[in-house]
Amino acid sequence: MITIKSDAEIAKMRESGKLTRDVLDLIGREIRVGMSTKDLDKIAYDFIKSCGAEPSFLGYAGYPASICASIDDTVVHGIPSDDIIVKEGQIVSIDVGVIYNGWQGDAARTFIIGKVSEEKEKLVKVTKECFFKGIENLKDGTPLGDVGYAIQTHAENNGFSVVRALVGHGIGREMHEDPSVPNYGKKGTGIRLKKGMVIAVEPMINAGTYQVEFLRDGWTCKTKDRRPSAHYENTVAITDEGVEILTL
Ligand code: MF3
Ligand code: CO
Repeated sequence: MITIKSDAEIAKMRESGKLTRDVLDLIGREIRVGMSTKDLDKIAYDFIKSCGAEPSFLGYAGYPASICASIDDTVVHGIPSDDIIVKEGQIVSIDVGVIYNGWQGDAARTFIIGKVSEEKEKLVKVTKECFFKGIENLKDGTPLGDVGYAIQTHAENNGFSVVRALVGHGIGREMHEDPSVPNYGKKGTGIRLKKGMVIAVEPMINAGTYQVEFLRDGWTCKTKDRRPSAHYENTVAITDEGVEILTL
C-alpha cells in the first residue's frame, strides 16, 4: 500500500531528512585514512542520539549498526568493523537512516579518499548524476518506470551497469514502504507518482557486471566481478510541480 503524506507530514519528514543529511555531511568532514568503519559508525550514532533521534538501521532485521559502510567492490550493506580501515584510493559509500518524531529519512553518499583511479572517480560522479537524471522530470503523474529508465540510460551510456538485486523504496513512518523504486526500467510503465508520495531514490551503479553476491554475514553485498560500485541516495517528496529533496 502506498501512503500519501499530507503537507504537515512532509514538514516532519523535512526535519528527519535534514538530520539524515547532517549525519552524512558530518561523516564527509570527519572521514580520513586510518579510521575504521566502526569509528564512522560511532560518529553517526553519537550525533543522531545527541539530536534526540534514533538510527533506523540499528536492529532493523537484526542489522548491527547505525550506518552501512561499503568500500570499493562492496555495493551496499557493508557492516562497520574495527578491522575495516579506510585507505587512500578507496571509494567509501555511507548509507544512513534516521527516525525523528516518528518519521524516517534515508540517504547515502560515496566519498572519495585521496587520489583514486579515473574509473572510480567517473563512477562516483556518474552515480550521483544518475540520481539527478532519475528525478529530473519527476512530478505528480509521472510513471515510476521513467525514473529507472533515466537512471539506467545514464549509467549504461557511460559504460556502467545498474544493480538489479536491490532497489529504492517508498518511505514514511516506515523505512521501507511501497512502491519499489528500481534503478532500471521502461519509460511510461508502472504506477503514476502522486503529490504526497515520498520515495528513496538510490542508484547503485557498478563499473563492471550488474551482478552481485551476498557474503555469509547475510548483509555485505559485493559485485560478482569485484570491480568497484558506488551508491547515492536521497529521500524525495513528490509535489504538484516537481520534487523536493528532503535529505540534501
Ligand atoms: N538505505 C538502505 C535501504 O534503503 C539501508 C538499509 S540497511 C538496513 O534499504 F540495515 F537497515 F537494512
Ligand atoms: Co534506502
